[in-house]
Amino acid sequence: MEKPGRREGRRIVLVLYPFQGHINPMLQLGTMLCSRGFSITVVHPEFNSPDTSKHPDFTFISVEDCLIDEPGDSMTFLSTLNANFQSSFRRLLEQMMKREAENSVVCIVFDVLMYFAQSIAADFKIPAIGVRTTSAASALAFFTYGGNPSRDPRLEGQDTELNFLTKDLPALDLKARNDATLKAQAEVMHSMGQAMRSSTAIIINTMDSLEQTSLAKLRECFSIPIFAAGSFHKYAPESSSSLLKEDTNCISWLNEQAPKSVIYVSFGSIAKTTKNQFLEIAWGLADCALPFLWVVRPGSVEGCEWIEGLPGGFNEMVKERGRIVKWAPQKEVLAHSAVGGFWSHCGWNSTLESICEGIPMLCRPFNAEQCLNARCLCHMWKVGIELENELERGAIKKATRKLMVDNDGKGTRERMLAFKKAAEICVEKEAGLNELIHFLFSL
Ligand code: UDX
Repeated sequence: MEKPGRREGRRIVLVLYPFQGHINPMLQLGTMLCSRGFSITVVHPEFNSPDTSKHPDFTFISVEDCLIDEPGDSMTFLSTLNANFQSSFRRLLEQMMKREAENSVVCIVFDVLMYFAQSIAADFKIPAIGVRTTSAASALAFFTYGGNPSRDPRLEGQDTELNFLTKDLPALDLKARNDATLKAQAEVMHSMGQAMRSSTAIIINTMDSLEQTSLAKLRECFSIPIFAAGSFHKYAPESSSSLLKEDTNCISWLNEQAPKSVIYVSFGSIAKTTKNQFLEIAWGLADCALPFLWVVRPGSVEGCEWIEGLPGGFNEMVKERGRIVKWAPQKEVLAHSAVGGFWSHCGWNSTLESICEGIPMLCRPFNAEQCLNARCLCHMWKVGIELENELERGAIKKATRKLMVDNDGKGTRERMLAFKKAAEICVEKEAGLNELIHFLFSL
């Protein structure tokens, strides 16, 4: 990667949305930009503050968010956060602009969920670039359907591929929502669409090799540049921004396992299971007779603090074959030679991390745009196996064995290796990243 050396004064202000699946890609993007000569200021809410010590090159500014409660409904949380953040961010920019040489802030790079940033940047005549931390396909779905929340895509038949991908998107499940949530959703969708359309450009954490068609359709919808500059994590391999402490002991355990033998199980930073689902997963993993590394975040099993609800006899049955941790160094785990499969909730970061390491996926989406990602993985790219219906130990055993060892999963495993190769070529070429850097230097 070309490293021109930091040009003091060419500052980019990153605006974070405070959840792990958003913090990681934004700080990885910051690391990429920093290595290409920009100074980085990260503006973030007090809630879920990132660990500043892990990014000594960045300047961090925590902004008062006035959030009283833990987030309940995600749409209401989003609209409250955007409303609360505005005046503090405006004051902050005012101070920055006074302090810094007049043209030193090159642009504001904001997570599109922090859509308020675009209009404030416009008031200061600073270019604003929106970042979609999820896939191009989900951005396309949002623009085709989500920008107008009164429209139910399943009733229309314009783009059959898109309809298929968005079939179960919970954000579009209007019937399941109450009035207050619907109002918040309408406001969020409208403001987000508006902010993206009015941005100077959009950056997407994806690769041309992976999402060429969706990117082409998206570029048709927009008159502004769209940069597919991912996978961000591959350009910032040292960057770690875990909010929870990573249990690195699992790497020593992986070192003792046979190549490609371990199934890694993790459902990201938000998904929760019921106690019954947790028990079925436990028995499924015990019955499949494969080594497993299972991340159970504290509080992620309803009604339990951690794993005290494990079935009696589980530990004796599993013995040294299984490891359960509270949080893993996931990128390192997926890159480990002992790992042969990933049972995932299909968050976009996990999806990209798995593809870049060539690890086939067992797909069990929980919420957000995860079912769209699962559809891409299982039905379009055919590098994943979908685990549908109620979680049940027999089905889990069958699916994990298909993914890892059985003959009928061989095609999935081989295709994922081909996807890894394509991703490697794309990342090595740095085409999307170079275009973005060129654009930033032109501002
Ligand atoms: C959220 C949404 O749920 C997801 O749908 C959206 O695509 C991004 O934002 P999350 O559910 O946390 O994210 O999933 P994901 O996108 O996979 O991000 C999780 C991140 O945490 C990944 O970068 C992963 O490497 C990391 N992680 C996860 C760890 O470092 N250790 C773990 O034990 C588990």
